[in-house]
Amino acid sequence: MSGHGTPIPMTSRRAAPLKGEAHVPGDKSISHRSLILGAMAVGETRISGLLEGEDVLDTAKAMRAFGAEVINHGGGEWSVFGVGVGGFAEPENVIDCGNSGTGVRLIMGAMATSPITVTFTGDASLNKRPMARVTDPLALFGAQSVGRDGGRLPMTIVGAADPVPVRYTVPLPSAQVKSAVLLAGLNAPGKTVVIEREATRDHSERMLAGFGAEITTEDTEEGRVITLTGQPELKPQVIAVPRDPSSAAFPVCAALITPGSDVLVPGIGLNPTRAGLFYTLQDMGADLTFENPRTEGGEPVADLRAKYSPDMKGIEVPPARAASMIDEYPVLSVVAAFASGTTMMAGVKELRVKESDRIDAMARGLRANGVTVEEGEDWWSVEGCGPEGVKGGATCESFLDHRIAMSFMVMGMGAQNPVSVDDGSPIATSFPIFEPLMAALGANLSRDNH
Ligand code: S3P
Repeated sequence: MSGHGTPIPMTSRRAAPLKGEAHVPGDKSISHRSLILGAMAVGETRISGLLEGEDVLDTAKAMRAFGAEVINHGGGEWSVFGVGVGGFAEPENVIDCGNSGTGVRLIMGAMATSPITVTFTGDASLNKRPMARVTDPLALFGAQSVGRDGGRLPMTIVGAADPVPVRYTVPLPSAQVKSAVLLAGLNAPGKTVVIEREATRDHSERMLAGFGAEITTEDTEEGRVITLTGQPELKPQVIAVPRDPSSAAFPVCAALITPGSDVLVPGIGLNPTRAGLFYTLQDMGADLTFENPRTEGGEPVADLRAKYSPDMKGIEVPPARAASMIDEYPVLSVVAAFASGTTMMAGVKELRVKESDRIDAMARGLRANGVTVEEGEDWWSVEGCGPEGVKGGATCESFLDHRIAMSFMVMGMGAQNPVSVDDGSPIATSFPIFEPLMAALGANLSRDNH
């Protein structure tokens, strides 16, 4: 089992006005998919702007173990020489996906229809997370799996030697499950159909089409019906990874709650299945604008400008928006603490099975810092303290969750007293340049416990 080494305590003290440009790293979802689809194409896929966080590096290592050649040219430029659909070799050793649910679930899908046996593991966070949501549909293709109690890692999957295509309705809103089924469908003959009742991020569909697969999406009464024709020859691509809206969320939210701030976050992917946080912040009255909207690499992109917003109001976040901002609720709850009135977040039970139970983790830390939080199984609400009213002063547990650690660091920038986390090391999974990037804007972060 992998770990994160020695914990890194971190403290965020009230920041000077945040000013300047924040060039956040590449999109994590698209980075994983670039490596995996590159490994399933025949020939050289060139990737620029790849997120070089631990999660994605673990996926790169895994693709090498399956036989693809993966080359890091430096500066975010990578090449993947793929082995083709159905060309995965059996890895010599256990595949360790570290902290990454996306990595492990997508790779399970990609190998499940090849006649190879693979054992997967991860860190203490990943090894607690549910995998049956992926292995259940993979069993329909003919793959077998055996894991720990409750469908947890470490887990071994025996890929199907004679896979059959499936028709599967995803029972929960999860792009990882949808994508695992689509990737498995690549090496099954005939048409694999995935139906999702709620639209989740559609990077897999867009990228599969880009790699030359025959894939269609239809909005019907049942939901979104995605049909993939199996056993294509995927054509290698040149991919420019857009910058990650889920990472942009941190400097954007930091600027909204730090007096005097004006921050530009250029080149952010604004795929409608990902951009829910930004519309929610605007609904709360945030001074947040989209500048220079354009299309890059098939994805909508804009420069985000965020300014200090002392007049934000709590709102009811529309549950229908949950999937498009699922990773952003932790930092939204911090902004909600600096607004006036209550912010209600419902329809979010998936937050309980992320890198941590994110409702529990945020509720504990917010309460310790003087913020009132109520919660139920699939909802929580935060009572705003107003723009100057968050006390701070406490140390929060990050529970091996990068987004929990970064959210509390953001909170410290606007709170009356410093805010600490017990362990900021997981930040490196998705946003390895978080500390220098925030410091360059004017944040006051240090590696200590106040
Ligand atoms: C992701 C899907 C989401 C998200 C995760 C990335 C993806 O997970 O939380 O950070 O790249 O497909 P779920 O599929 O569990 O909702």
